[in-house]
Amino acid sequence: MNPDIPTHPVSLGWHAVQLGGVLAAVLCLALCALPLRPRAASRATLALARHKVLGWSALAVAVAHALLLPFTDAQVLEHYKPSLPWYELAGFAALALLLVLTVPAADAVRRRIWQRHRNFQALHVICACLLVLALAVHVGVTAHYTHGLPRTAVAVGLCAAALLALLRPRGTSRAAPAPAASAALVFGRHSRLVLVVILAGVLALGALFVPRAVLALHESVLQRTTALVLDFPHEKHREVACVTCHHNFTDRTGSGSCIACHRSERPDLQAGAEARFHVFCLGCHRDPPPPLKHQGPVTGCGSCHSPPTQF
Ligand code: HEC
Ligand code: HEC
Ligand code: HEC
Ligand code: HEC
Repeated sequence: MNPDIPTHPVSLGWHAVQLGGVLAAVLCLALCALPLRPRAASRATLALARHKVLGWSALAVAVAHALLLPFTDAQVLEHYKPSLPWYELAGFAALALLLVLTVPAADAVRRRIWQRHRNFQALHVICACLLVLALAVHVGVTAHYTHGLPRTAVAVGLCAAALLALLRPRGTSRAAPAPAASAALVFGRHSRLVLVVILAGVLALGALFVPRAVLALHESVLQRTTALVLDFPHEKHREVACVTCHHNFTDRTGSGSCIACHRSERPDLQAGAEARFHVFCLGCHRDPPPPLKHQGPVTGCGSCHSPPTQF
């Protein structure tokens, strides 16, 4: 974001709740990255206690993020319906994974479900890996904080580091430094599976650099049936050349309103209207190309989805 460009005013509440989501994500990465169980007895208790406190805190903050967001902008509820886009579903998946990682991990429950600690451990690590992926998709594609190449690279780098940290050697074995493959052996016979999931996760993170994948993650899980109001203020876009938006003025795709055409059943459309326009409109608003001196709304939904202003 260019610091000279005035940002659109948005409610403090929206920012606070969004930052809560980021805090939850950071806590999750920290849970992967911080050493957990040096089996040397005395320190182990402290590390494990800290791990549990961080885990429950992440869950609490994530629940607050998901529950409070609609209070800052009621339109957000459009993304709590089954027609939500994949990147928002990833957010709900992350929340579900956090529940799976915390609730059954409580001592009393854990001992009842898993006789062998290694089975619990392997499942816990695999869920942690999926959690990091879900968070990367949710935070990375929502793109409030991670738009543009440098920031995306930082976010993806942090997630990859957190995933790889899950493979760090543990245990008392003071034998020679363990290479990654044998370090994973602490997960017993599940080691290979854990290793594959983690490495596949690291590779999958690369998708966040691929524009087509990001567009696809904006698609709805289930087709929407109802339209949403949209206020597109033409007069606020005078600084932008007509054909930047009206590509159909020059490329002979046809005429008419962009939204009607993009919502139609034309076989040559490669993306749904919501995915196409969220990426396109917000793309310019988030990273306006140089001559632009202003920036349209980048947060909230009501800034675009409100009844048109009458003049
Ligand atoms: C920069 C403007 C902008 C912002 C901000 C924005 N949208 Fe949109 N949205 C659009 C446009 C343009 C479309 C495509 C036109 C359409 O389908 O109405 C769209 C389409 C949609 C659709 C599909 C509706 C339909 O009629 O098919 C949903 C659902 C949606 N947006 C939800 C949201 C939610 C939830 C937020 C906030 C998290 C949001 N939008 C923020 C511009 C925006
Ligand atoms: C930032 C993108 C953008 C720019 C720049 C832009 N338009 Fe548009 N234009 C739109 C959108 C979006 C709509 C559809 C609005 C709606 O359906 O509510 C539209 C609608 C229109 C329509 C009505 C089309 C119809 O059939 O409904 C005309 C005509 C039009 N624009 C002409 C222009 C001209 C001429 C320029 C340059 C001076 C221009 N626009 C610049 C985005 C843009
Ligand atoms: C008559 C139909 C039609 C109209 C009107 C139309 N489009 Fe498109 N648009 C298409 C088709 C077809 C494509 C190419 C297939 C695809 O990318 O989905 C496309 C592609 C796009 C793309 C992707 C371009 C790329 O290079 O990736 C954007 C962004 C876009 N349209 C925005 C708009 C906007 C904004 C308007 C109105 C201001 C508009 N379109 C008007 C049919 C239309
Ligand atoms: C190429 C850049 C660009 C594109 C593409 C673009 N916008 Fe904008 N938009 C701007 C700029 C710059 C402003 C700020 C104008 C101002 O403040 O004077 C703006 C302002 C707005 C505002 C007004 C906010 C306010 O202050 O009330 C809305 C709403 C909006 N855009 C919606 C959209 C929608 C919807 C689309 C997609 C159909 C879109 N924009 C596409 C650059 C763009």
